[in-house]
Amino acid sequence: MSALLEVDALSVGFRTRRGIVRALSEASVAIEPGELLLVVGESGSGKTVLAHTLLSLLPRNVDVAGSVRLGGTELLGLAPAALRELRARRMALIPQSPASSLNPVRTLGGQLIEGARARGLSEEQARRRLRALLGELGLDFDFIGGRYIHQLSGGMQQRIVNAMALVGEPDVVIADEPTSGLDSELVETTAAQLQEISARGASLLVITHDLRLAQRLAGWIALLYASRIVELGPTAAFFEAPAHPYGRELLRALPEREGKSIPGMAPELTALPGHCAFADRCPDRFDRCTEALPDLYPAPDGVLARCFVHAAR
Ligand SMILES: Nc1ncnc2c1ncn2[C@@H]1O[C@H](COP(=O)(O)OP(=O)(O)OP(=O)(O)O)[C@@H](O)[C@H]1O
Ligand SMILES: [Mg+2]
Repeated sequence: MSALLEVDALSVGFRTRRGIVRALSEASVAIEPGELLLVVGESGSGKTVLAHTLLSLLPRNVDVAGSVRLGGTELLGLAPAALRELRARRMALIPQSPASSLNPVRTLGGQLIEGARARGLSEEQARRRLRALLGELGLDFDFIGGRYIHQLSGGMQQRIVNAMALVGEPDVVIADEPTSGLDSELVETTAAQLQEISARGASLLVITHDLRLAQRLAGWIALLYASRIVELGPTAAFFEAPAHPYGRELLRALPEREGKSIPGMAPELTALPGHCAFADRCPDRFDRCTEALPDLYPAPDGVLARCFVHAAR
């Protein structure tokens, strides 16, 4: 079974001693079955918070507004038992820190089989699928099965959590930096595995710093800046010509392009301006940019961009 994942005006704020950290502001996206949405943006822009909010994996000091629906069912505020069931059977997370998601005092074999069984597989199916998925990634199930997570390299840990997330063939996969620590060949295998489950009808959300991987995975892209989606559209259009100045500067900063990093810093999430958050760093800035907050406006090629340059179209 597969279903549409709809995120509507999702805002997340953490109550801290420094004030409210506005980690996500009014994010709206939809991922159809079989579609892949990339989420990119600099460190601290809210990518992991978005992933964790979709799965209701948030700490207590949080306020969430908006809506997350899977196949029409609201997920925010779901009872703990229903959430556990959902995370076991329908939505899987590839976490940003693989080691922290596994038990350090148990060997991996039992944990992996148990995890797969919680996703509805028989012991026999669990073994077979884990063996196959790990094998594609160059890991031998029997070898890693008898080891503890800290005995393995970062790249091995990454491959193990990737296999674990894909083993139950979930409807939704949320992958937070699924290729960290992997060499280019393993990045390619991981990309192929993700595309395969997307082709089977799963909805995929892939967070990545690796813009080359993003281009390779194609699909749709959401660019986050200071807690807001500033550009949303087909990935191919983004790499052709980003509609938002931040996207343009981000691509220009790639080593294989101009390699020139964007001067300045993103604003503090405890003190976001009431105007465009990129204005201070934007080469295209004009008066209105420091006076009001832009909406997402239609730009060419089916792209939406949070920039006044596109407001009059
Ligand atoms: N539990 C929390 N309490 C307070 N602030 C938090 C909490 N969790 C995250 N934040 C803040 O929310 C903001 C967004 O964090 P997030 O982890 O989503 O960034 P990210 O885009 O995933 O960055 P990276 O690329 O480094 O992984 C950051 O400023 C972070 O400090
Ligand atoms: Mg993150």
